[in-house]
Amino acid sequence: MTAKLTGLMNWLRSDRNLTTTHWASWESDSTYRRTNHDLDAIGELTMRSETVTHGGVIPHTFTRRVGPQFSEVNTQLLRDTAQALVADAKGVLAMDESNPTCNKRFAKLNIPQTMEARRAYRELIVTTPGLGDCICVVILHDETIRQQKVDGTPFLEILSDAGIIPGIKVDTGATDLAGHPGEKITEGLDGLRGRLAEYFQMGARFAKWRAVISIGDALPSRSGLEANAHALARYAALCQETGLVPIVEPEVLMDGDHTLERCRKVTEEVLRNVFIQLNCQRVLLEGLILKPNMVLSGLKCPAQASVDEVANTTVKSLWRTVPAAVPGIAFLSGGQSAELASARLNVMNHRFKSRLPWALAFSFARAIQQPALEMWSGQVGNVKAAQQALLHRARCNRAARRGEYTASMETK
Ligand code: 13P
Repeated sequence: MTAKLTGLMNWLRSDRNLTTTHWASWESDSTYRRTNHDLDAIGELTMRSETVTHGGVIPHTFTRRVGPQFSEVNTQLLRDTAQALVADAKGVLAMDESNPTCNKRFAKLNIPQTMEARRAYRELIVTTPGLGDCICVVILHDETIRQQKVDGTPFLEILSDAGIIPGIKVDTGATDLAGHPGEKITEGLDGLRGRLAEYFQMGARFAKWRAVISIGDALPSRSGLEANAHALARYAALCQETGLVPIVEPEVLMDGDHTLERCRKVTEEVLRNVFIQLNCQRVLLEGLILKPNMVLSGLKCPAQASVDEVANTTVKSLWRTVPAAVPGIAFLSGGQSAELASARLNVMNHRFKSRLPWALAFSFARAIQQPALEMWSGQVGNVKAAQQALLHRARCNRAARRGEYTASMETK
């Protein structure tokens, strides 16, 4: 064996101990090496290489968990965090409304649309006594994650004391998709890697990105669906690289007069596209949470589906489209009434829980917050009553996760 070939064989042997994706092509006059590597969705890299010499071809194949975004530590962290987000039949409280959205809701109740009013409202939420008994996760907004109680205690400290995991909305909102009248695309990928690193340092353990899909005569278009699914997957991969669990939120809106059946078809198509793109971007399915809409009749549809029909159709659609590797599905409420959101989630869990591969949970904003916001209406004297209203909805939804919610809970 020539010295060069001996060197190559030694190099190959030492390669078997590699724990990273470092890779070099190697060539000489008489030998060369062909390699390709495949990183699959669970973070395993299969390296296939062939050493080609004048004496023949020596194949080598080995599989190892590697890669900067899928180091063993990150993979385990992502799996553990994702499990924690849907653990113990508790749920997610979304309080990540953008400032314009929060201000719009304040305006309807004549609450001043100021940073201080938003801070005071968020303080009301995070200091609700007993919140951690029903809520294990909150989604914050960039403004809120940096805020404190009036006495200077950071919100993040209050949440940590209550055993609540904080996370952060990182999309910068939906804007018109060029060339696609009536369709939106969510923005925020530029500079996202740096923002995610900062949030992780601050203590966030997951992130959220919402894509918005409208149903109309010729909507959604295939290209609209693909563009939104692609952005969601790019976001999710960046999150996992940083150690943050992505909450992937493709929301099919309730607005319109479409039927339950049309919503089902669109929702299934959206979810199929999302998982195709997540796989293309090598996102670890065990390390994400899906936040979809329930399958509902459009708000203006004359035939409104019953609670049972919504629950059955939603679960059927999820069965068809969401891989079993995903640990949890946490629904958005999307403008449903608080009571209906609880009732529909309850039937899904009551009827199907033992047959579902994923936890069926909630990640509601309006369906938890709205009664409390109305009760508060910006008045200091209403804080306690508003906190009770918030806790009541959190308890109802916790019961719905167990399939134990009843309408009588609303009158107690
Ligand atoms: P809704 O539950 O009000 O639809 O909100 C979900 C959400 O993610 C808010 O940011």
